[in-house]
Amino acid sequence: MRLPAPLVLGLLLATLAAGAALAVEGDVVFKRKDGQAGTPPAVFPHWVHRIRYKCYACHPTPFQMKAGAETITMDAIQEGKLCGACHNGKIAWDVSFETCNRCHVEK
Ligand code: HEC
Ligand code: HEC
Ligand code: HEC
Repeated sequence: MRLPAPLVLGLLLATLAAGAALAVEGDVVFKRKDGQAGTPPAVFPHWVHRIRYKCYACHPTPFQMKAGAETITMDAIQEGKLCGACHNGKIAWDVSFETCNRCHVEK
């Protein structure tokens, strides 16, 4: 049996939306070390990146294969390091007040 195309697309979009909205299996949910309130800890959707890049795009530098190994700060990201190597408005969308909650997902 073949599923009608709109249904397949709908299921795909539903999956993508779920991925963006909350942490799913395989996401790295960062633990905030400094206990800063206000901004919830960032979530890294690993699979979204894995389907686009080879592992060595990120491992072993700048990221070790161990959740929480790297201390990530917004200063570093805005200097174009770590997540900011790609999230710079060129390779991927930029860090701005419109995008805070794409990484910092409310629980
Ligand atoms: C590309 C993803 C991404 C975006 C966009 C982003 N952040 Fe972050 N941010 C992170 C990661 C990863 C960390 C480290 C883990 C953590 O502390 O949540 C972090 C850490 C932080 C921290 C704690 C450490 C520090 O540097 O002070 C604050 C506060 C913060 N972000 C606020 C913001 C605000 C406000 C925005 C929007 C202007 C924003 N972030 C946008 C990924 C992002
Ligand atoms: C776009 C960047 C990126 C790509 C591509 C990527 N990873 Fe990761 N990976 C990360 C980040 C960021 C972390 C969390 C590191 C940290 O918290 O310091 C991580 C963590 C991990 C961890 C530890 C997870 C845990 O829960 O402790 C493993 C294992 C891992 N990656 C394997 C892989 C493999 C295998 C591939 C290729 C199929 C891959 N990664 C591709 C960025 C990436
Ligand atoms: C090697 C490049 C690269 C690095 C490093 C990288 N990203 Fe991404 N990221 C991308 C690309 C490309 C996309 C897809 C952009 C798009 O759809 O416009 C993406 C998408 C995302 C999304 C949206 C996922 C969705 O469901 O649509 C989030 C959230 C995100 N990245 C967070 C992070 C965080 C947090 C880090 C650092 C821990 C990081 N990224 C590091 C390239 C990267």
